[in-house]
Amino acid sequence: MPRTHVDKVARDLYVLRLDDDETKYFEAIWYIPKGVTYNSYVLVTDEGAVLFDSWKHTYSELFINTLHNVVDPKDIKYVVIHHMEPDHSGSIPKLLERCGCNPTVLGHPLVGNMLRSFYGVEARFTPVKDMEEVSVGGRNLKFIYIPWLHWPDTIATYIKDSGILLTCDAFGGFGIPPAIYDDDDAVVEWYLPLVRKYLATVVGHYREHIVKNVDKLAKLNLEVRTIAPAHGLIWRRNPKIIVDIYYRLARAEPSGRKVVIVYDSMYGFVEQAVKVLAEELSRRGYEVRLFPFTDRDHAHVSDIIGEVLDSYAVILGLSTYEGKIFPQMEYVVRLLIDKVNAEKPVLLVTTYGWGKVSEEYLRSLLKGSQFKVVDVVHIHGAPRGEDIERLRQAAGKFP
Ligand code: FEO
Repeated sequence: MPRTHVDKVARDLYVLRLDDDETKYFEAIWYIPKGVTYNSYVLVTDEGAVLFDSWKHTYSELFINTLHNVVDPKDIKYVVIHHMEPDHSGSIPKLLERCGCNPTVLGHPLVGNMLRSFYGVEARFTPVKDMEEVSVGGRNLKFIYIPWLHWPDTIATYIKDSGILLTCDAFGGFGIPPAIYDDDDAVVEWYLPLVRKYLATVVGHYREHIVKNVDKLAKLNLEVRTIAPAHGLIWRRNPKIIVDIYYRLARAEPSGRKVVIVYDSMYGFVEQAVKVLAEELSRRGYEVRLFPFTDRDHAHVSDIIGEVLDSYAVILGLSTYEGKIFPQMEYVVRLLIDKVNAEKPVLLVTTYGWGKVSEEYLRSLLKGSQFKVVDVVHIHGAPRGEDIERLRQAAGKFP
């Protein structure tokens, strides 16, 4: 059941948060059993209100009703669209239709056309330039382009007197945290794996732009006391935590000696092999995470991508399937290349019945990516004596 929250973040700035526990596949791809939040913000001034983003279109009515807790919609002077993806812009058409106001819509120059093409909305749109400032009710808003986080239109707003940076998708995460702010260590600890999953899946393809934009923000020397994203926790106790985590994940740095094993096993042969590897790697002090595709269980690709991003190494266990590799494994590999594509060692384990053909197919998929194949173990049928010895040796290929 979706829940709403309204809270005062700082002087005259309010958050309107919707806890969406109904969407099962974010962007119709990423499995999110722990849900997601949409955070919209309202700045109330004596010259009118400024609305920053909204909620997914499904919740338009609820959004407008919730907005009434903070401001009469007819008093909205500006609507700032930080990014046009409909999880944030989706309730704006209904708001413009119903508010009885005629606000100026501010955003990246790309936003005006997208408003028309997405929603058929002819708004009073004024594009903002990078670093442009607007004053309203004595409050200074600075708009900062943060392109490709994760669309070209993404901008942030810095509210100077409060030291608040509204960042839209940047510094956000999946999940419905049991708090609005980062005040509680236990909540932060619960939330951070969902930040990693969000970053890897939604922004991962453009992760180099996270580094560029964090560097850009750092050079501006803004006094940022609060980071207020459009998903997940608001960072007011220690915003440096989320910036550092984004920066580290954007460079796909290993968080330790974690080895992610993704495998399919139609009749158990590959599973027997990867379990030998998992046991040997654990004995050698690695932390092993297993993601199976078997007749009992199918892993979620969104979890795999998140785990691989900060892994030390990856093992792919593959059945040979119609001269290629198991279809779900091909899907995983293609998404790993698209979303993670980092310089990480990869060990391949294949099983086959009548031909060793899957290695060539997999190498063709990996060609041009940054993943580096360090060893390949082929097993004819089920792993036995020499195969098991070979697997134990292969585990030693990771330094
Ligand atoms: Fe949360 Fe890219 O929208």
